[in-house]
Amino acid sequence: MEPTTDKQPIKDPTDFLPLRGTDHIELYVGNAKQAAYYYQQAFGYRLAAYSGPETGTRGKASYLLEQGKIRLVLTSSLEPNSEISEHVRIHGDGVKTIALEVESASDAFKQTVQRGAKPVTEPYRLKDSHGEVQLSSIRTYGSTIHTFVERKNYQGPFLPGFRKVNRPRMSPPVGLRHIDHCVGNVPLGEMDKWVRFYEQVMGFKLLITFDDQDISTEYTSLMSKVVSGGSGYIKFPINEPAAGRKKSQIEEYLEFYHDAGVQHLALATDDIISTVSELRRRGVEFLQVPPSYYEDMHARVGTIPEDMESLGALNILVDRDPEGYLLQIFTKPVQDRPTVFYEIIQRKGATSFGKGNFKALFEAIEREQGLRGNL
Ligand code: FE2
Repeated sequence: MEPTTDKQPIKDPTDFLPLRGTDHIELYVGNAKQAAYYYQQAFGYRLAAYSGPETGTRGKASYLLEQGKIRLVLTSSLEPNSEISEHVRIHGDGVKTIALEVESASDAFKQTVQRGAKPVTEPYRLKDSHGEVQLSSIRTYGSTIHTFVERKNYQGPFLPGFRKVNRPRMSPPVGLRHIDHCVGNVPLGEMDKWVRFYEQVMGFKLLITFDDQDISTEYTSLMSKVVSGGSGYIKFPINEPAAGRKKSQIEEYLEFYHDAGVQHLALATDDIISTVSELRRRGVEFLQVPPSYYEDMHARVGTIPEDMESLGALNILVDRDPEGYLLQIFTKPVQDRPTVFYEIIQRKGATSFGKGNFKALFEAIEREQGLRGNL
């Protein structure tokens, strides 16, 4: 049975890196104040906490946004020369940190570094009147990092330095529950290196392999392997470009991000029709597949309780695997560079990633690439 949430206590004595789930995702952005407005207004997140000069944090401002179990942190630099402003200069808005909740941030650091992880930040403590957290960080692909968060002795709204925001929410939630998976794009030839990193350094398991036969269109192709950790609750697909007649979407990402990095976050909902209807109403832009996609859908997935007409009108994709089916849709990039985007996914038993939709989806992405002159 597929886990339906990304946060469960883990008790496996042989697991050297017991993960309790995704703690939060931090994006470095050019203007966190305005980005926070977009995520609240369009995606229905609640602004839960803030850290900045007013709370005693110098040089940067961070907004904690919450919906269901999802925590996004948007951070901007207030300085021209800082690690944050340098990240934004090179990559544009993007994911800096995939933070994982652990029992012990010092043990997670020790276990991973002794297996070859490149350290970023040695374990350190942060305290305030709500208690204490311990944090440590290691590198993953590109300039992305994993931060280990030990928060069992902390009762505050997020982390020390953050102050709770007591403001009525800007816009109702749209039904986003948890992070289903988090996808990285890496350069040609590096996918296996990062799969080995997750296997050897973090104790993850290789879950699925997609080769260029699975994921190809007339023009481009890519390869993908999915690694999974935290007893299956954390899933990281890793993509690399494969040789094709034209530039692949992964190459376009790498060219504009100027490095490996997070391509998309998949957010789970229990009612994709209502979630996507609401997101569309609020102006979120999605990739469009042609009407012909729906012609053979019944033959591919059989009868499902969802109303086919609504799925077609909203452009939601459906795929079946031996365990069930899933419904999914992809936003367009959420910044001007063709880099980070979001997937909205509803699983009805299916544990896979929508392989039957890859072709229609990648053709939709290529149409957008063509409009940008990047195909
Ligand atoms: Fe995905």
